[in-house]
Amino acid sequence: MKIESDRAEILGGVWRGKTTGGPIALRIENRDWPNWKDKEYELPRMTVPRPGHADLAGVYKYGFDDIRPVLERASARETTMRVAIGAVAKKLLAEFDIVVRSQVLQIGSARATPGDLSDPAVIERIEQSSVRVADDASEERLRAAIDAAKDRHDTLGGVFEVVAFGVMPGLGSHVQWDRKLDGRLAQAIMSIQAIKAVAIGDGFQAGERYGTEAHDGMTMRDGSVQRLTNRAGGLEGGMTNGQPVVVRVVKKPISTTAAPQPTVDLATGQDVPSQYVRSDVCAVPAAAVIGEAMVAYVLADALLEKAGGDSLAEVRSNVAAFIRALAHQEFSGSAV
Ligand SMILES: Cc1cc2nc3c(=O)[nH]c(=O)nc-3n(C[C@H](O)[C@H](O)[C@H](O)COP(=O)(O)O)c2cc1C
Repeated sequence: MKIESDRAEILGGVWRGKTTGGPIALRIENRDWPNWKDKEYELPRMTVPRPGHADLAGVYKYGFDDIRPVLERASARETTMRVAIGAVAKKLLAEFDIVVRSQVLQIGSARATPGDLSDPAVIERIEQSSVRVADDASEERLRAAIDAAKDRHDTLGGVFEVVAFGVMPGLGSHVQWDRKLDGRLAQAIMSIQAIKAVAIGDGFQAGERYGTEAHDGMTMRDGSVQRLTNRAGGLEGGMTNGQPVVVRVVKKPISTTAAPQPTVDLATGQDVPSQYVRSDVCAVPAAAVIGEAMVAYVLADALLEKAGGDSLAEVRSNVAAFIRALAHQEFSGSAV
């Protein structure tokens, strides 16, 4: 919606275009707040929880007699800041030629033809697409699915993927459960509102395959180990293996539907139909942007953990030393 075109303002942690090492403080104004702030005490209580939202569990948990403080905090509006912080993470990753991209793969049962996310022309097309896909036919199919949902006063979810290119091996670790990068990525992505499944690489499809068809064979080429495929999505043993990191994500349909859903009025104890408040029909393309930000955040964190260092120059030199050492790592006489 128009009101939701935001800008982040930098309040601190940046001096003459560079980070100081202090926390970077960002501020995004909620431009809808002036419309509401004088009505805080006039608004009627909300007592009808909407199925699929945090409403009922939130009032149970915090003992509220009004749903409003739950729904305002639970709203995906909060992810605006995740996207802003993700932009900072992406800036750091870009210094190491790591780029994070996303595309929508499916809306409802309509599938897009996946584009090659390593191709800048494809990225340009995706960024211009209203549904974050790489070609016109996919755009038409996915838009038609959304229009059909709208016509039946309903909503749709779908699937998107986030891919990180240029990630060096060795981010994350196999030695402790909470240091495994696949687990950390899954947590970060699952924390986005309405996300119901996170797959690394081939994910669910891997469960249907024989072992010989599910893994990524290796071959020695030009003195280094190359992979024949990337079914693992760049992660083995909770660590990056040097292949692109691939995360696929399922988002459920938006919970608020124009068609009523059965619910209850907590104030009267009566069964009632859900009430409609203005809401989107499909937020899968927006969720893909948030997914990109979360992957960038987790990878930037893992990069700094691996490399250490207090300045960009120091991080760069530590990463370079690691990459150099990799190229010369001796293992029973042959380079790895
Ligand atoms: C980008 C984005 C936009 C959303 N927009 C809406 C919306 O307009 N209306 C709505 O009812 N839910 C919207 N949601 C979904 C709700 O926030 C979600 O149903 C709620 O968080 C509960 O789901 P959960 O238990 O899976 O987190 C949106 C979610 C995302 C990620």
